[in-house]
Amino acid sequence: MPVVYFVKQQQAVECPVGTNLRDLARENGIDVYVFPNNLVNCRGNGLCGTCRILVEDPQAVSQRTRCDERKCSWEGEHIRLACQTKVLADVRVVTNPRKILAWTNHPTYQWMKDLA
Ligand code: FES
Repeated sequence: MPVVYFVKQQQAVECPVGTNLRDLARENGIDVYVFPNNLVNCRGNGLCGTCRILVEDPQAVSQRTRCDERKCSWEGEHIRLACQTKVLADVRVVTNPRKILAWTNHPTYQWMKDLA
């Protein structure tokens, strides 16, 4: 069975192939959200985009779903929605990978950079 290593929590969890990463984290007491999104989120339906994680090896997890594609493909192949990602092989995962103001990297806000 694959082993998921949650880097920030320094916790390794073994799980069957096909396990949902959000479910796995929650079952093991690992919070993939930043407050207040731990209270207000779409409950794993791929709509809110608040369960972002960084996977070190994108080949070790499932292909992007349409929701995942829409919400975070612009951030690169390593950033995924935990609720839309299934484990296929051993993988290292970083929860809450975004830096403050990372949203300004979205193409929608390119005009702000053009002003600078
Ligand atoms: S929980 Fe809302 S997108 Fe994953």
